[in-house]
Amino acid sequence: MNPVQIKAKIISNKRFKENYWHLEFEAGIIAKNALPGQFVDIKVGDGCEPLLRRPLSIHGVKGVKVKLFYEVIGRGTQILSTRKPGELLDIIGPLGNGFNYRQQAKVSEIKNILVAGGMGVAPLFFLAQKIKVSKPLVLIGAKTKRQILCAPEFKRLGCILKLATDDGSAGFKGKVTDLLQIILEQAKPVRLFSCGPGPMLKAVSEIANENKIHTQLSLEEHMACGIGACLGCVVATKGGYKRVCKDGPVFSNEELAW
Ligand SMILES: Cc1cc2nc3c(=O)[nH]c(=O)nc-3n(C[C@H](O)[C@H](O)[C@H](O)COP(=O)(O)OP(=O)(O)OC[C@H]3O[C@@H](n4cnc5c(N)ncnc54)[C@H](O)[C@@H]3O)c2cc1C
Ligand code: FES
Repeated sequence: MNPVQIKAKIISNKRFKENYWHLEFEAGIIAKNALPGQFVDIKVGDGCEPLLRRPLSIHGVKGVKVKLFYEVIGRGTQILSTRKPGELLDIIGPLGNGFNYRQQAKVSEIKNILVAGGMGVAPLFFLAQKIKVSKPLVLIGAKTKRQILCAPEFKRLGCILKLATDDGSAGFKGKVTDLLQIILEQAKPVRLFSCGPGPMLKAVSEIANENKIHTQLSLEEHMACGIGACLGCVVATKGGYKRVCKDGPVFSNEELAW
């Protein structure tokens, strides 16, 4: 669907732990049409400051509710964390292309692997909700156990979960991409989906190319307009520069030119 600009009522905005927050707002039209991997662009404050909207992935939908999961890292997300239930948020969405998860013929033949680093769990959880019938294998990586996010939620969906931490405080000791390599030596999935920091996505893409596995990677770039007008968010692809906000944020390993 074409994105809409709406004033959405905040249902809840709660600290989940440390700097991580869950926000729910009412937006039936976005909830009904959003695809995993799509995002919303939020005017976080009431006045002109900050001028630029902040992009956040859709973390889930339920009825008319849209759920976001965000980390407070700067001024925009700090202001967002002060917004109260009942207030109206100026939102544009759903934006971007989203993951193409419907292309399989028979669900039973597909082994989906989701690879998340840090806040990359935000869009991948929505994706896992949509493909949970295929019992996806979810790999979550972080520096330490404390920074592993959403593990119980993925488990509750019925996903198979494996963790990787740099310090070995939970699961495999090392990078989540090292864990992915080991898993691919044992079994080949048909598809990989990934979201996380740039270096992790580049490593996932290289592993996917070596193993000839179709992979969809959700990129995060600094955004200005968020609607494809300013070219502030371009990435290099084999077909030339593309806009993360409009042509992405999801790109395949085959098309990206890292
Ligand atoms: C398509 C998309 C989906 C996103 N989904 C989520 C999500 O679901 N949850 C979430 O917590 N965050 C998400 N982000 C990142 C989020 O948009 C930024 O964290 C937020 O805009 C920061 O705003 P701020 O004003 O708090 O921080 P700022 O003051 O603007 O920045 C604080 C620090 O973070 C860096 N930074 C800001 N934006 C980005 C970015 N896009 N990529 C990398 N570094 C950045 C800045 O360089 C600076 O060092 C997403 C970004 C994109 C592009
Ligand atoms: S943010 Fe303006 S084109 Fe993407």
